[in-house]
Amino acid sequence: PNQQGSFQDPFSIVSYEMTNLAKSIANLIGSGHPTLNRVSSYYFEAEGKNVRPLLVLLLSKSLLKIPVEQRDRITIDTYDVTEQPSYSGTPTATSLAGKSVDDSISPLRILHGINPKVILDPLSKPMDALPQFDSVNGILPKQRRLAEIVEMIHTASLLHDDVIDLSDSRRGRPSGNYAFTNKMAVLAGDFLLGRASVAIARLRNPEVIELLSTTIANLVEGEFMQLKNTVVSNEPLDSINNDGELKVVPQPSGKVPTEMHEYRVTPPPGIDHKTNVEAAFEYYLHKTYLKTAALMSKSSRAAAVLSGSHDDVIENCYQFGRNLGLCFQIVDDMLDYTSSDAAFGKPSQADLKLGLATAPVLFAWMERPELGAMIGRKFSEPNDIELARKAVIECDGVGKTRLMAQEYCQKALENLRVLPESDARSALEFLTNSILTRSK
Ligand code: FPP
Ligand code: MG
Ligand code: MG
Repeated sequence: PNQQGSFQDPFSIVSYEMTNLAKSIANLIGSGHPTLNRVSSYYFEAEGKNVRPLLVLLLSKSLLKIPVEQRDRITIDTYDVTEQPSYSGTPTATSLAGKSVDDSISPLRILHGINPKVILDPLSKPMDALPQFDSVNGILPKQRRLAEIVEMIHTASLLHDDVIDLSDSRRGRPSGNYAFTNKMAVLAGDFLLGRASVAIARLRNPEVIELLSTTIANLVEGEFMQLKNTVVSNEPLDSINNDGELKVVPQPSGKVPTEMHEYRVTPPPGIDHKTNVEAAFEYYLHKTYLKTAALMSKSSRAAAVLSGSHDDVIENCYQFGRNLGLCFQIVDDMLDYTSSDAAFGKPSQADLKLGLATAPVLFAWMERPELGAMIGRKFSEPNDIELARKAVIECDGVGKTRLMAQEYCQKALENLRVLPESDARSALEFLTNSILTRSK
């Protein structure tokens, strides 16, 4: 139930768009190579949560409730971006710009009450032409495409993430790396990013292109931060100098390293426990923003930019995505402690084994300075994981993590209040609350 007391199933509000999401993505990722097709479509076959596209679509729908007079960036264009990328050449800007609504009357446009008779210059549109396209429940074709792009980027990152995390399951099935090998999983992820990039370029909106390209970079930055205070190298341990810097030792010729060694960079001495914990939390939140919230915040912002909204609305949409994303990942890190593999659909109790210090153990560290050494050595000594888990329970690290997630959830709900009241907004509120209570 939402705050008004009426129930709004988030999916049902955008069911038309959500039902077509997988089909649309399938059209964007076809290649001439059957095996590549199998690997790159693999994660889309299993039922994912589709949180990101749902978010983009519901936000788009909420934004369209803002009266036209209250928008100031009238760059909205409604041409349907349904042309598929082809590996034998892509349409040029000129060929797309020359496309009128007349020659691409889509059922979508009719369904949304968009007048197919009106010919638009798709790249610039006068303000007074807007109302005709501001249909009661319409979501712009570009916003639909945005939802697809976001899911493609996310899925690419999952393929890569499961390689990095040595994961063997995802969405209740063998993970991509496990089912097809690391090499194919990595390449399929790259391919998805390539196709997502084509689709991004076709949105023909420089600001949105910049936002989405940055999300890809942010995902990688976040993942690098997660290698936390380690230097990943193919070099033997003694090639790390005292400052923790990697000394490059040339590989003997003809020897391709296959094993990765991770090395810890020792923290500078003489810093007190409190400062260390605070720094670790800051680091954790920044990493969390980059690896999870950046995609949600920047795609939310992109949805708002495409809607032609005022800067303050755009900023609130960005903040909404940011707060929701932080809440989402903090809950994910909490579930790693509380969930079972079966309920989670992926390995649980995995983070400590990976050497990762997430919110629950950081909260425990606040009370137990001795955890610092274990975190520092990435829980690599025989009893570390067990001891850390025990400390998390005793210090209620999970409960404190939940409270932290709740704070971000509340902030996200506040951000939503700048949007006019609507079914779509209620559905977003419901979605935001259910992220907090989700079990997978
Ligand atoms: C899941 O986190 C992983 C991410 C949110 C991002 C992963 C990003 C990369 C691997 C960088 C490469 C990016 C691209 C765009 C190809 P998790 O491991 O905590 O969650 P999990 O439990 O679902 O595996
Ligand atoms: Mg992972
Ligand atoms: Mg990971």
